[in-house]
Amino acid sequence: MHPSAAAAPGPGPGPDRDHDHDQDPGVDRDVEARIRALLDRMTPAEKVGQLNQLSGADGMIPDALARQVREGRVGSILNEVDPRTLNELQRLAVDESRLGIPLLAGRDVIHGFRTILPIPLGLAATWDPELVRAGARMAAVEAAACGIRWTFAPMVDIGRDPRWGRVAECLGEDPFLSGVLAAAMVRGFQGDDLADPTSLAACVKHFAGYGASEAGRDYNTTNIPEGELRSVHLPPFRAALEAGAATVMTSFSDLNGIPATANRFLLTQVLREEWGFDGFVVSDWDSIPQLTVHGLTEDARAAALAAAEAGVDMDMVGHAYAGHLEALVASGAFPEARLDAMVANVLRVKLRLGLFEAPCTATATAPEPAAPPAAHLALARESALRSVVLLRNEGGLLPLEAAALGRVAVIGPLADEPREQLGTWVFDGDPSLSVTPLAALREALPGARVRHVRALDTSRSEDRSGFAEAVEAAADADVVLVFLGEEAVLSGEAHCRADITLPGAQEALVDAVRATGTPVVLVILAGRPLALASVVDKVDALLYAWHPGTMAGPALADLLLGKAAPSGRLPVTFPRVTGQIPIYHAHRNTGRPPTPETFVHLRDLPRGASQLSTGATSYHLDTHYTPLFPFGFGLGYTTFAYDALRVEPVTMPPDGVVQVAVEVENTGSRRGTELVQLYVRDPVASVTRPVRELKSFRHVELAPGERRTVTFELRGADLAFPGRDMTWVTEPGRMQVWVGGDAHATLGAEFRIMEPQPDS
Ligand code: BGC
Repeated sequence: MHPSAAAAPGPGPGPDRDHDHDQDPGVDRDVEARIRALLDRMTPAEKVGQLNQLSGADGMIPDALARQVREGRVGSILNEVDPRTLNELQRLAVDESRLGIPLLAGRDVIHGFRTILPIPLGLAATWDPELVRAGARMAAVEAAACGIRWTFAPMVDIGRDPRWGRVAECLGEDPFLSGVLAAAMVRGFQGDDLADPTSLAACVKHFAGYGASEAGRDYNTTNIPEGELRSVHLPPFRAALEAGAATVMTSFSDLNGIPATANRFLLTQVLREEWGFDGFVVSDWDSIPQLTVHGLTEDARAAALAAAEAGVDMDMVGHAYAGHLEALVASGAFPEARLDAMVANVLRVKLRLGLFEAPCTATATAPEPAAPPAAHLALARESALRSVVLLRNEGGLLPLEAAALGRVAVIGPLADEPREQLGTWVFDGDPSLSVTPLAALREALPGARVRHVRALDTSRSEDRSGFAEAVEAAADADVVLVFLGEEAVLSGEAHCRADITLPGAQEALVDAVRATGTPVVLVILAGRPLALASVVDKVDALLYAWHPGTMAGPALADLLLGKAAPSGRLPVTFPRVTGQIPIYHAHRNTGRPPTPETFVHLRDLPRGASQLSTGATSYHLDTHYTPLFPFGFGLGYTTFAYDALRVEPVTMPPDGVVQVAVEVENTGSRRGTELVQLYVRDPVASVTRPVRELKSFRHVELAPGERRTVTFELRGADLAFPGRDMTWVTEPGRMQVWVGGDAHATLGAEFRIMEPQPDS
């Protein structure tokens, strides 16, 4: 395709919005008038106070905090979850500060509050926006009951490096899937009306590019060309903001030499000028003073100025705005009008949340938070069940037939760990609610002898003294269920790994139990994709459960025993070995892509092989060039076949639309749900495009033998990308499309985008 193209709206920047709020039809005049009235009465110190976020003190209100709240020097509190303390802080703000502006209470409500859902990467494996929305709604209801009205989620950083511990928190590697699910989360957290007392303001984070941290090491530098930033990293933010996300958090990372927290291009040009965002931007924890550590600014004063000039409205516990912004305005270094705009952004969100009308939570008088309602546990169970991905099932070992099981060996350090199954970011999660796999299996198999051997103290242990007992139990069982992976602490913020194989002696444990000859089902609980090339063939079945949350046990028991069939699909590509990273489906082709004909493994190279001994294509000598499991992959308890793919019409104008239809048939003997995925490639473009891009997906549930036509609509705008000048464009030319059950789908067709017609 060539650059003679039609500009398309697409997922890229829309038309600049008029920032005069009086003229914008979307603006609430009442809110803007109230902001103006407040600003007219505020002193510079009170204005800066609204931009200052402090941390709570675990149910206490130290004198210094109370004084600052009374003086109007605090706009927001995070990490206080005791409802009585939060109400008292609100009382100080509303009744005892001069202007009575309420505080905004924030918390990391990431995948549940008390009731814990799967980690976000697990939620992404459901590929189900409605389920994700419902989970966020549940979390909002639980958190809001404690007085929290702001969550630091969704996290939409693109996760293409599973060494990075925060891959657990993201929604996978794909911009489209992340955007769809992030939008669903925003709708869940914020509800239908932000002013509803159960609504949480969402905070889409970390703007932007954090997922590209070099070497998968947290907080590390990123270098992302603008086209890549706009086509891969920014679209999920845009999707979350279009769903109404009220706030944005900056990233800790340096982007192309300008740390995100001082990046005017991101925070003002893209976010405000191109996208018309009118909520507020909060820094990440202490990330304003860290601008000096990055080497961008001389000191905290200069850091405050750099962040404010770039577009950060609120300082998360960095004390840089509180310490310097007033003086910067007084000296003329920073215009008061700009300060007013920052304050207005914060007040706008507080007004939209209805905090002025209802600053306190009504539940504070309850003696203890009640146990979550059964509906919350049911939703956690359903989410866990839907997040699990079946990666291998040799000889149809699964599902197990409960009635045929006399003796079951449940082995491994993660079979009975109420806390570890919750994963990262569960400060408020209640492990006493957890039902572990062991407990659930015991309950589901009352007639069987279920023997549990931990074998390893933790997932990291090297001490093999427990292996003998595990082997004995395995030898004596009809089936061995091994629960391995990673404890919660091996993923999440600041918890990265350089080698993402099974830690400790876990693989040796697999070898030991397998040697007994008893069929082995491996269940992995982990915060990231692990590199399992050396393990996968040693087990008969492999269920990948991420960290499934409170109801891990019942969900896994249902799947193992066939009360439900696995329907999760990978939201990330699984590498064979760590050294393949980054490996993801939407890569570009290179000039020398690997092929079966050009690939030679080093073990097949003859002695004395010359420099010309391989096919000179792009791969590693010591592993295959394909991933272990592709993006979108997942088995069920039945099989599906695809045929009769057709595109109508076969040509379309750049602003047109085509229908892509395919026949899907359940070719197995059980009812099952297939995730039908649509990928495209623009094979010739003014900027090289990925070999596959996910553009749509849909679940279909089919009875054995049932066949159904699944139809997708592709609009020209869906096929747009940032051209050489960074304008989103749908270029004329050939377009390839594939539909199937994962990113390696082979059933393809083509259509053509025509040159735009001159206006007649
Ligand atoms: C994390 C954020 C989080 C914040 C508040 C930071 O360290 O990067 O994602 O929201 O802390 O807890």
